[in-house]
Amino acid sequence: MDTITANEKYLVAITGASGMLFLRPFLDMMNAQGVIVHGICSDAGRDVLAYEEGLAPADLPGIEQWFDLRDFSAPPSSGSSGYAGMVVLPCSMGTLAAISCGLSMNLIHRAADVLLKERKKLILAVRETPFNRTHLQNMLQAHDAGAIICPPMPGFYLKPQSLAEAAETFAWRLADQLGLPVASKRFWGDRPHVEKDRHSA
Ligand SMILES: Cc1cc2nc3c(=O)[nH]c(=O)nc-3n(C[C@H](O)[C@H](O)[C@H](O)COP(=O)(O)O)c2cc1C
Repeated sequence: MDTITANEKYLVAITGASGMLFLRPFLDMMNAQGVIVHGICSDAGRDVLAYEEGLAPADLPGIEQWFDLRDFSAPPSSGSSGYAGMVVLPCSMGTLAAISCGLSMNLIHRAADVLLKERKKLILAVRETPFNRTHLQNMLQAHDAGAIICPPMPGFYLKPQSLAEAAETFAWRLADQLGLPVASKRFWGDRPHVEKDRHSA
């Protein structure tokens, strides 16, 4: 896996799915790596962020520049702007559908389309439950086009002690997918291996 070098540029897109608590640990991690992060937020993303976290996009840490969702002349519209990767966190089923079909109806869809055509990393932290057939088909289509489908599922085997710690385990996952060397990350195998006693109750 490629390793990130400082000053690379990444895009974080926020859409109107549940799971806003995953943003802060991920952004903190990006910050600690010294990479540049730009942001785009959908209208529904703005609403759900306010509802779940009581925050506006500008309150989030470490995003150097925000682009308007309707501004197709903003840098993320073009492959020549040189983003190394993009994470849609959380990714709604509506945005997933638009990306999987290449609709480019707003700057998030367009940026994702650009990242795919440039063969750069596009990670979709899709969130819905349960999934219907359309959701599943759209995920497969996005996967086949080159996106990484990475739903916000914490690693409970790492025994997080709080929601914030659980969110951090997922942020490590995202960081891994981007090739980010995260110092605080814990791995399976860091804890002493406990043999399962098949005969115990
Ligand atoms: C509180 C709240 C939670 C939501 N959670 C989800 C969700 O988990 N997944 C999803 O696909 N849509 C969810 N929605 C609906 C989306 O916000 C809606 O479909 C919206 O049109 C998505 O637009 P966007 O993709 O441009 O952000 C939620 C809406 C609200 C108000």
